[in-house]
Amino acid sequence: MNKVEAIIRPERVSLVAEALAEAGFIGLNVAHVTGRGVQKGIQHVGRGGMTVTVDMLPKTKLEVVCKDTDVDKVIEIIIESARTGEVGDGKIFVTPVTQTVRVRTGERGDAAL
Ligand SMILES: Nc1ncnc2c1ncn2[C@@H]1O[C@H](COP(=O)(O)OP(=O)(O)O)[C@@H](O)[C@H]1O
Ligand SMILES: [Mg+2]
Repeated sequence: MNKVEAIIRPERVSLVAEALAEAGFIGLNVAHVTGRGVQKGIQHVGRGGMTVTVDMLPKTKLEVVCKDTDVDKVIEIIIESARTGEVGDGKIFVTPVTQTVRVRTGERGDAAL
């Protein structure tokens, strides 16, 4: 199993979650986070010509644990529904998950997803 963690634009989260559900990926976590990428937030010229820097931007973290064979599918779905083509579209991290347990039944592994 793998955890696909996607940091995306908050305004895209419902679109992504919907697309994942349509493909059969129901279970997920959503967390509101603040962070920065290569651009270190955004810079714009404010009143009086001063440069205003916002170091951390609001983003949404979406977490999906899935079977090894589903990782590429999940990544594709996220990319397709989260991409605008502009800077700040986000990033996806994949990490191995060693075990999943469904508390209600005690099922383990892929069967518990
Ligand atoms: N190396 C990283 N490690 C952890 N989180 C990151 C990293 N790079 C980006 N992020 C998260 O992803 C969000 C969106 O990044 P983004 O600006 O699209 O990436 P980049 O500028 O690196 O192409 C950031 O606001 C931050 O929350
Ligand atoms: Mg960036």
